[in-house]
Amino acid sequence: MSTAPSLSPRLQKVLGIDAPVLQSGMGGVAGSALAAAVSNAGGLGVLAALRLTADQVEAAIAEIRTATDAPFGVNIWLHEDVRNPVDAATIDDEVVSGSQAVMNGFRPRFDLPSRHDRPDSDADLVNAALEVMIAQRVPVFSAAIGVPEAALIDRFHEVGSKVVAMVATLDDATQAADNGADVVVAQGTESGGHRSYGTKHDRAGATGSSTLTLVPQVIDAVGDRVPVVAAGGIVDGRGLAAMLALGADGVLLGTRFVATKESLAADVYKTRLTTGDRTTTLTDGFTGQWARVLTSEFTERWEESEATALPGLLQASAGRDLFGAAKKAHDDQLQPLYAGAGVGSLKGIPGAGEVVAQIVAEAEDRLSNTGGRAS
Ligand SMILES: Cc1cc2nc3c(=O)[nH]c(=O)nc-3n(C[C@H](O)[C@H](O)[C@H](O)COP(=O)(O)O)c2cc1C
Repeated sequence: MSTAPSLSPRLQKVLGIDAPVLQSGMGGVAGSALAAAVSNAGGLGVLAALRLTADQVEAAIAEIRTATDAPFGVNIWLHEDVRNPVDAATIDDEVVSGSQAVMNGFRPRFDLPSRHDRPDSDADLVNAALEVMIAQRVPVFSAAIGVPEAALIDRFHEVGSKVVAMVATLDDATQAADNGADVVVAQGTESGGHRSYGTKHDRAGATGSSTLTLVPQVIDAVGDRVPVVAAGGIVDGRGLAAMLALGADGVLLGTRFVATKESLAADVYKTRLTTGDRTTTLTDGFTGQWARVLTSEFTERWEESEATALPGLLQASAGRDLFGAAKKAHDDQLQPLYAGAGVGSLKGIPGAGEVVAQIVAEAEDRLSNTGGRAS
């Protein structure tokens, strides 16, 4: 990593890292082993705290600290319907029955009975997780799916933590910088997983701009104040070189790190990310919020149905039996396989540290090769 600091001195200084590569916090995928492997390789590894209890977050932080002395981050959603969980009793009966009807079409496949009931309200886990992060003085708080407010950022700064805020619009980028975020991540629509908005948009088509168009605009808006990191569809060193050429300070990758040895993703998921047809689509059918996933029988049936998803993350709760059974059966059609639009370029399932090293080496090669095209 000897020449890496030259790639992005500003970002690397702010976060105390050697390589301008951030691994995204990813619920169910980014545990302590993945975060530690990325941080040990010089990037910023990030633990996903979504849906973890305070005790689980604390235990995972301790595991990372045992595995690395390098800086790392802890990520959580700040979506208004997740931070203040929606009361399930307020959901219209027709929304519940319409959504359950689609899932009932698939339940017989796993011998599951039909369901018509509404799920229980989700527990309030986000605020407890934030308190653990502050008490633990995590090196980096990675905020997403909602702009962190100034008072929250101040609390992290008071204990010496840096704050990285992921946004999908210019307004949110400006708000995050105004509120005191140390780094802004610009998330393009190519991104795998959920859109980084604090509220839900009506239509998938209303969710944001491409990485290529969003990143330069965010740089123009806030790049003089904070480092800007590009996210969405980036899977290799060509992507890092391209984003540095646009003026970004670094990249954040999700999908590439799902298909690594240390990720918690199931084997069937890693296999689907690295072989065969990898068309992606935006759906709210799995969780209730718009997310990019591999196209499947479920995404197609959900879209045809024109059913309305339950709010917050209650759609996931309503379908927990179905999606859980699919996961157990290694079924790749009836569980969310989050993937960015760059997924078609993934090859193999390397270690996460190798991914960081390879991306940096390839970007350095591209940027130093005035002929342009590296082999
Ligand atoms: C499996 C998966 C889970 C994700 N979970 C989270 C999450 O818990 N918190 C978050 O901030 N972003 C999450 N994301 C979105 C990423 O932060 C990021 O925007 C995206 O992965 C970047 O695009 P890429 O996947 O094309 O690299 C997730 C992405 C994936 C692929």
